Amino acid sequence: MKLILLGPPGAGKGTQAKRLEDRYGIVQISTGDMLRAEVAAGTPVGREAKAVMEAGQLVSDDILVRMLASRLSQPDAANGFILDGFPRTVPQAQALDQMLAQKGLQLDAVVELKVDDAALTDRIAGRFTCRKCATGYHDTFKPTAVPGVCDACGSTEFFRRADDNRETVAARLDAYHRQTAPIIPHYARLGILRTVDGMADIDDVARQIDTVLSAVQA
Ligand code: AP5
Ligand code: MG
Ligand code: ZN
Repeated sequence: MKLILLGPPGAGKGTQAKRLEDRYGIVQISTGDMLRAEVAAGTPVGREAKAVMEAGQLVSDDILVRMLASRLSQPDAANGFILDGFPRTVPQAQALDQMLAQKGLQLDAVVELKVDDAALTDRIAGRFTCRKCATGYHDTFKPTAVPGVCDACGSTEFFRRADDNRETVAARLDAYHRQTAPIIPHYARLGILRTVDGMADIDDVARQIDTVLSAVQA
């Protein structure tokens, strides 16, 4: 299964990608996570990306296309993958088409999570993540079972992202509408766009995705 999960910041891409990894035995490829790892490691890419990400803008297509090409050629992606956060611009979508065509691969589906802008700020403002195993949580919508302890690994260390504040979220949403939403018609034309209601609760969104993917596989 080869998928793109598409949607605005806070739509639930990361949350649903983690579930799909377990269900289909395929890897999540999150360009946001990859960039945050570069920033944390202080690499040249990380140094260039840091300020751009903190301003809620998009990092250059050049960097992202190179990063994704190298990630897609790693052995664990051979089985299938979930792209979370890529492509985000028309040139990135075109570069992906070329990369896949060269490998003789085709996308099975592009799943769009549709969520009202008004809901996104609350989702992002309440988000926190386990530092050890990267499981995502939310103060209200997905708290840990035991306060302060990760359900998945028992760690007590969590972090909140540097770009998860109200001002930056507004810039990220603007970037989504101006630069990313224009790729949606491209996938609609290819006949692989599947839109789900991302306003529903997490389990319900997961069920909707299962339904559309079962139809794709059949
Ligand atoms: P990235 O890390 O991709 O961030 P994003 O697209 O802004 O999306 P988020 O990770 O914020 O949201 P999500 O959809 O994963 O939601 P989540 O599941 O966590 O990118 C960050 C930055 O990196 C970009 O701004 C850019 O600078 C750069 N970048 C990355 N890729 C790039 C590219 N290709 N080109 C250029 N630049 C790039 O859910 C959010 C919260 O809500 C969680 O707390 C969760 O528990 C909760 N939640 C989830 N689903 C539900 C639900 N159904 N109901 C209630 N709560 C829910
Ligand atoms: Mg994410
Ligand atoms: Zn954990």
